[in-house]
Order: sequence, then structure tokens, then C-alpha cells
Amino acid sequence: MTYVVGQECIKCKHTDCVEVCPVDCFYEGKNTLVINPDECIDCGVCEPECPVGAIAPDTVGGTELEYWMKFNAERSEIWPVITKKKDPLPESNEYSPENYKEDKKELLIDEPWQD
Ligand code: SF4
Ligand code: F3S
Repeated sequence: MTYVVGQECIKCKHTDCVEVCPVDCFYEGKNTLVINPDECIDCGVCEPECPVGAIAPDTVGGTELEYWMKFNAERSEIWPVITKKKDPLPESNEYSPENYKEDKKELLIDEPWQD
């Protein structure tokens, strides 16, 4: 079992999740985060921390979750680790679940974060 970051994180990146993870298994892309499933110890503390509900256990199931499980597993091998909270992306309010109802997949920038 592992926890998975889904599309709600895209263009938000609140990063409250990384602060609480005891094993530092979050990895950072340009406009979303992912979890490394081999490092996640299934503690579940990150799930309630995300203000946009982007984190779920893989036991939820379904096609959408399967898509993000693969994405999290693959990108966490090549993106840089993130261990400290930072400011959310400036557009996070505009793309919050209350204000943006569309599918966010096509807004993903599939590239690693670079300082
Ligand atoms: Fe980290 Fe626990 Fe969340 Fe896994 S479930 S990503 S170990 S905080
Ligand atoms: Fe993303 Fe939520 Fe973490 S928006 S960065 S999964 S707190």
C-alpha cells in the first residue's frame, strides 16, 4: 500500500504534506508533487494536511487512481526530493477545487522542479 498525489495538487502545491512526512518521500515537479510508493510507510498523516484533498490511499481504486499511481511511481524516481514547506503556487486559489472544476491533467507541466 502507498499514498498517492492526484491531480488536485496541480497548480496548487501547498506543500503542507511534505512538512509532516516522517520519511521525506515527496518529490517535486514544476507544478505538482508526487510520492515515492517504495519509500512511503503508509502512516497516513499527510492525507488530512492537504487543503485541496490531493492525497489518497491506493486502496481507493479506480482508473483515475491507477493513472496517478503510475505517475507518482515514475516521476518520484527522477524528480528532486522536497522536505520543507514553501509558499503555494501564486495561482493556487484560482485552481482550488472551489474555483476550478475541470480536469487538471492537461495543466500538468511534466518536468522536475529546478531552483
Ligand atoms: Fe509520507 Fe506517511 Fe504520507 Fe506516506 S502516508 S507520503 S509516509 S506522510
Ligand atoms: Fe500538493 Fe496538497 Fe501537498 S496541494 S503539495 S499534495 S499539501
